[in-house]
Amino acid sequence: MTNLNRRQWLKTAGITGGVSLFAGLPALTAANASPLTSSPKVDEIIRLSSNENPFGPSKKVRQAMIDAFDLACRYPYGYIPDLAKMIADKEGVSADHIVVTAGSTEGLKICGQVFGIQRGEIIAADPVYKSLISYAEQFGCYINRVPLNDKMEHDLEEMEKRISSDTQLVFFCNPSNPSGTLIDAKQAEDFCERVSDKTMLFSDEAYCDYIAEPDYPSMTKLVKKGKNVIVSKTFSKVYGLAGIRIGYLIARPDIVKRLLQKRMAGPNVLAIQAAKEALRDKEFYEFSLDQNLKARNHLYETLDELKLRYVPSHTNFVFFHAKKPVQEVIQAMVKEGVRVGRPFPPLTDWCRVSTGRMEDMELLRAGMRKVFA
Ligand SMILES: Cc1ncc(COP(=O)(O)O)c(C=O)c1O
Repeated sequence: MTNLNRRQWLKTAGITGGVSLFAGLPALTAANASPLTSSPKVDEIIRLSSNENPFGPSKKVRQAMIDAFDLACRYPYGYIPDLAKMIADKEGVSADHIVVTAGSTEGLKICGQVFGIQRGEIIAADPVYKSLISYAEQFGCYINRVPLNDKMEHDLEEMEKRISSDTQLVFFCNPSNPSGTLIDAKQAEDFCERVSDKTMLFSDEAYCDYIAEPDYPSMTKLVKKGKNVIVSKTFSKVYGLAGIRIGYLIARPDIVKRLLQKRMAGPNVLAIQAAKEALRDKEFYEFSLDQNLKARNHLYETLDELKLRYVPSHTNFVFFHAKKPVQEVIQAMVKEGVRVGRPFPPLTDWCRVSTGRMEDMELLRAGMRKVFA
């Protein structure tokens, strides 16, 4: 869809004319939501490709960042401990268990280097989020890739079976990207505990906030037991701070000391103040979760209507079987004004789509109806 066509579509749909197509949905001008929510820029492509949260940052977080400009002449090191303490309290550990990073990607890369440089192997599902493993590969590490099982989950049995004296780390992503699956709580905990008795277990929990199962454990539980476990979490998803770059690792203090030596840049003062306010802003957190649920259900309806098979998701994206090369889908959808997924080899006829604003989901539906007609 060209920009002009998209504008016309929006006009017909009543979006630009102030008549809401989405009457009955909660007002998107919710007290704390980002200004973006009420005035989408119609001539920009709709980005449903990177699992971002278009509602962020919340108004309170924006204000915190504006206020933090006075600190912008200072190095961030003195401001990290306060945030580390807030995170530690939330996670139920002491602050010496926390490494605050520039997005969880920095933490993933630190670990990719620390464990990859030993040139053994890292065991990981395939496909899975690549930051840690592709960085480790650059240091000469072999990646022992274990295909997903037929439920699109990590094949835990096979992953465990492959552990040898060469294994430096097992990468566990839960909920996983790109499949969106969540491993049964007991199975996940038992697997991580057994693995951590043999080697280092890395638990990437970027999407943990979206887990709806009550009392689902973070593997921080195993860190507290003194196990060989590193957990990563991020402010990029439910908190809507992907562009600000802030995340953290949780590990035993002796592991933290080792990881800190490899820190690359670390977080900046604006990001630190943003994250502190984001942790306080419970209203926005709930709002984000609620919007994600509605958008995800809308996406399921679209996929059901088009008879496209998908994996039920525990995240802010859905992985579906496109039945044609994903590159073709991406290009066709760009013409419709929406950017979707990227290739996740070897599943190159599957496509990952993120949730967005309801108007984004409507545009996605309109585009998909054409592309998958
Ligand atoms: C599973 C997973 N881990 C980590 C990240 C990195 O997130 P960030 O560096 O923004 O914290 C992502 C980003 O999409 C992800 O999907």
